[in-house]
Amino acid sequence: MQKTFSIIKPDAVATGKTGKILSLIEEKGFRIVAMRMAKLSQSQAEGFYAVHAERPFYRSLVTFMTEGPVVLLALEREDAVLKLREVMGATNPANAAEGTVRKLYAESIERNAMHGSDAPETAAVELAYFFNSIELNQL
Ligand code: CMP
Repeated sequence: MQKTFSIIKPDAVATGKTGKILSLIEEKGFRIVAMRMAKLSQSQAEGFYAVHAERPFYRSLVTFMTEGPVVLLALEREDAVLKLREVMGATNPANAAEGTVRKLYAESIERNAMHGSDAPETAAVELAYFFNSIELNQL
């Protein structure tokens, strides 16, 4: 079993897609280990996306991620990191496969409905950024 981290982003929460995205995730065999709704502060969003700090879209990404509530998720299944990226689809919805969350619900490459960790090492860092070890059943 592997854990991964996901965010249902402000665009998808605001347009009422939270339930549909959670259903899709569960249908694909993920167990929801921890889940919390939150409105990210600027410093939380900046820290989370610090690896993108030098990218031209960084300021805009931080503004987007703080514009409204998000849903933070710790998810578990076999091969969770890779499988969630399949469920999610390509970063740019124009390139996302049919039936993926981003193909179904994303508005643009930035407002792309959902985040999922890109590797097991990143998942560990991202899970620990938002959830404590009790919430992650790691005690
Ligand atoms: P995410 O998977 O959360 O990781 C980084 C985020 O930056 C990405 O989803 C998009 O929301 C955003 N992003 C990535 N590339 C671009 C881009 N070229 N222009 C604007 N936003 C982007």
